[in-house]
Amino acid sequence: MTTGTVDAPQVGTLVPPASDHELVAAIHQLKKERNAVILAHYYQQPEIQELADFVGDSLALAQAADKTGAETILFAGVHFMAETAKILNPGRKVVLPDLSAGCSLADSAPPDKFRAFLDQHPDHVVVSYINCSAEVKAMSDIICTSSNAVRVVRSIPEDRKVIFAPDKHLGAYVQRVTGRPLVLWDGVCEVHVDISIDKLKFLLGKYPEAKLVAHPECPQHILDEADHVGSTSSLLSFVQNDPGTTFIVATEGGILHKMRQAVPGKNLIPAPANAENSCACAECPYMKMNTLEKVWSALATGQPEIVLEESVRARAEVALRRMMALG
Ligand code: 13P
Ligand code: SF4
Repeated sequence: MTTGTVDAPQVGTLVPPASDHELVAAIHQLKKERNAVILAHYYQQPEIQELADFVGDSLALAQAADKTGAETILFAGVHFMAETAKILNPGRKVVLPDLSAGCSLADSAPPDKFRAFLDQHPDHVVVSYINCSAEVKAMSDIICTSSNAVRVVRSIPEDRKVIFAPDKHLGAYVQRVTGRPLVLWDGVCEVHVDISIDKLKFLLGKYPEAKLVAHPECPQHILDEADHVGSTSSLLSFVQNDPGTTFIVATEGGILHKMRQAVPGKNLIPAPANAENSCACAECPYMKMNTLEKVWSALATGQPEIVLEESVRARAEVALRRMMALG
């Protein structure tokens, strides 16, 4: 076990402000007192995106974490994202509002099973999607995100065999784009695989003028229908720059907040999930664990804090920095 919390101080006496308005004011005050920065992923609740200093996709968030001069990084996202910030910033405090905000992709690759898989495939270059644990990063040669996976794989000499983990759908997409055979780990994002192809086809029939934009964690049957495939940032810039006026968005519903702000006049329709839920969209239960109250509490107490074993952190940093050097 290389990650965890430092024992939390007694917070029983700390009473959170009663209203959202007061919570936001208290968070801004604590940010100043703690010299903290709030980094948030596009899948966070709108109220958290609104108070963040920076909102972005996984790559942009890693770059922002790398550049920050703040003493504390509050990461409003999931565990592997906060770990990434810590890998890049061993000297800074990194807090995650809810330590149980995990990721089905990261969970699909337990370090011991991943080690055994690598042992079965010697002489392969190991490319790991950033949605994995620090331990898996430490066993990898280079990391990628959904924005640069194609570029990362293309950077590997043609004569080298490549393992791609843990997302088999992103891996298969990279394989189709690059023409490179990849050995794929069998992991999926439970949110993107739950987007309903039947409901999506119904919507495409109902809105024939609509363009479909999709995240590459979606299975191929969704990507085959798409006009544009890319990371959350890439989907956002596509709907901003494309002359179309109606878009169906096949990724986690949180991105709709920034999209609606960016293109208020366009019709943005979330791709529906099989599961019935309140947003009628694909919703990541882990991303949605963070709340304003937990953000406030994490800043007030400095807990839960991300802690990494130094040998794991240092090896994971090598793989991460190779990606970051590619841009
Ligand atoms: P991005 O690389 O677009 O930020 O995607 C991260 C993620 O977890 C998607 O499910
Ligand atoms: Fe992980 Fe999927 Fe949630 Fe992204 S949307 S954090 S890949 S479970």
